[in-house]
Amino acid sequence: MVVGVGGALRRSHLAALAALATLLLLLLAARAPAPPPLLRPRPAPRAAPPAPAAPNTTAPHTASRAADTAAPRSSPRTSPRTSPRTSPKTSPKTPARPRPVLTRDVYEAGHSRPHPELCPALGAHVRLLVLVSSAPSHTSAREAVRLTWGHYAARRDISFAFVLGDPPASMRAAVDEEDALYGDIIVGRSVDSYSNLTLKTLSMLEWADTYCPRAPRLLKTDDDMFINVPRLLQFAAARANETRTVWGKVVHKSLPKRTTKSKYYVSPLQFPGRVFPDFATGPAYLMTADAVRPLLEAAGAEPYVRLEDVFVTGVLAAKLGIKRRHAAEFYNKKVAAHPCAVQRGIAIHMVQYHEQFDLWRKLLDGKTKCAS
Ligand SMILES: *[C@@H]1O[C@H](CO)[C@@H](O)[C@H](O)[C@H]1NC(C)=O
Ligand SMILES: *[C@@H]1O[C@H](CO)[C@@H](O)[C@H](O)[C@H]1NC(C)=O
Repeated sequence: MVVGVGGALRRSHLAALAALATLLLLLLAARAPAPPPLLRPRPAPRAAPPAPAAPNTTAPHTASRAADTAAPRSSPRTSPRTSPRTSPKTSPKTPARPRPVLTRDVYEAGHSRPHPELCPALGAHVRLLVLVSSAPSHTSAREAVRLTWGHYAARRDISFAFVLGDPPASMRAAVDEEDALYGDIIVGRSVDSYSNLTLKTLSMLEWADTYCPRAPRLLKTDDDMFINVPRLLQFAAARANETRTVWGKVVHKSLPKRTTKSKYYVSPLQFPGRVFPDFATGPAYLMTADAVRPLLEAAGAEPYVRLEDVFVTGVLAAKLGIKRRHAAEFYNKKVAAHPCAVQRGIAIHMVQYHEQFDLWRKLLDGKTKCAS
């Protein structure tokens, strides 16, 4: 039956067209921007406050600092939750004073894609765990990392993964598919969004603590970074005896932005101090494994700050007496990519897709002579 052949052909054309259309839709979905506005908290659907309508909930900036760790939070865009998810540690006090959102009230623990196999034997043979903070839609950034410096994932002494927050429904299939192909995407439970970056970092720490606790060093980095892994291994080896330390580009005496227009706005409720504690900037920092659990444990009771570097390597680390050490090799910025700069440095920021390949080639060109 010749007739059948024509039909089958047409059908396969149709199928191809349908596949193409789906692909286009997926691509469109991937591009759909819509990062939610900064600091836009979800309406808290949880328990209603014990007393009806706390006065002064639209908090003023007059933060009385004393209040139990928790200086009150004020942000014109936030209605403070007077009754956070009930926790044994928060005693129900008079609701008169606005309270900050505590990190434990927003963090969703656990991973929907944990991939424990990415760290065999809980990291007993791993020298370095590399976790790359990434967003569901950043497919091509992940691709470029895999094709370049992410190659070091092939080593048995390195454990490597991307970490995403919970993707929007529209992206779930694409993330599943990508992960089915590469098996390197850990997915946390907190909603993936810019203001939840801190939660993503906590999700990394939780993963490290749960699935890879024996790896002695953790690098937290982002998907727009170039990491010189051999150099980083040398750096870590030269400091093998250090404990409770974070290394990176350490910033001193940075002031919180108090204007709500700033991308980096922090309300006095979230951070009442005048100056941030020293912190290592977010694009890449290395920490000793013994810092991971204390950081995680301390996070819950602290007011949520959505600047992940300030919160984790500044506020929490300072509180815990975890050292922050500046290391010039963590450029954490864009650099003129001379092969020697690439070979000497550890972390370069703001790397676009095509630049990953350029940096990778410069790292491995095998001919440039650089004074080490
Ligand atoms: C952040 O994550 C929490 C936990 O999943 C979620 O309830 C909240 O809506 C997220 N916030 C934003 C702005 O996406
Ligand atoms: C770490 O300590 C051991 C024992 O004291 C010493 O032999 C080694 O050289 C030290 N390593 C580094 C990198 O300082």
